[in-house]
Amino acid sequence: MTDKSDPADLPAFDSDRPEWAQAHGPLRSFGRIKSRPIKARQAALFDTLMPQIAVPDPTKGPIDPAALMPEAKQVWLEIGFGGGEHLAEQAGRNPEALMIGCEPFLNGVASALRHVEEGGLKNVRLHADDARAVMTALPDASLDRVMILFPDPWHKVRHNKRRFLQDETAVEIARLLKPGGRVRFVTDWLDYAEWALERLERTPGLTRIMAEGEDWFAVSADHVVTRYEEKKLGDTAPIFLEFERRA
Ligand SMILES: C[S@@+](CC[C@H](N)C(=O)[O-])C[C@H]1O[C@@H](n2cnc3c(N)ncnc32)[C@H](O)[C@@H]1O
Repeated sequence: MTDKSDPADLPAFDSDRPEWAQAHGPLRSFGRIKSRPIKARQAALFDTLMPQIAVPDPTKGPIDPAALMPEAKQVWLEIGFGGGEHLAEQAGRNPEALMIGCEPFLNGVASALRHVEEGGLKNVRLHADDARAVMTALPDASLDRVMILFPDPWHKVRHNKRRFLQDETAVEIARLLKPGGRVRFVTDWLDYAEWALERLERTPGLTRIMAEGEDWFAVSADHVVTRYEEKKLGDTAPIFLEFERRA
């Protein structure tokens, strides 16, 4: 989804900065935000549909999920939804859940808007930018599910600092999950799976969920395959990491 042809141009993540929230600028987990012209119909949805379903500007203050969809029984967050296929499918299957999706790649947001319109989905809210700003603005214990699916791998060691899943992000996810809430992390890069497992396992409050005899290639029951996943760009079959927030 992103052009990582010259990531060295991007500023590095400064893990010494005390406030995770202040790291929004420096952690460049994504590259370009637009790759090709957006089709006229999809561009029009930015003017018509997006204002109705945009997450309020997270830099302006806290976000109350209940204000976004008062009747919601659950709140899910998908980080880096790409073309929005998974987000839209899950929204259709779970109409009682508010689906907050974050994606800075504008072609992806345009595609997601099309899915929302075509599916007549009423439970999707989008943030066309960095997920971390939204996470910072959400209250403690406000999410039932967090999904990070096939995040950009940044698999060269010198680029690992650009990975979305850092210790700071894992701690933030633990803060946001309700007791019993779950985070799913999926990647088809072995080294990113190992990296993520290490960080999620050492995050206070998170416990790995794994059925007896199951290995990490076991596909989660409600998983939705996207076109990106079908490209099989990684070096392994998809690895599924599922963690639960302890009470
Ligand atoms: C490799 S794509 C996978 C897309 C999608 N999850 C799928 O499986 O089809 C990773 C996506 O994460 C997005 N991304 C990277 N950093 C992000 C961030 N800080 N906040 C939200 N999205 C981010 C990228 O723009 C990209 O579209």
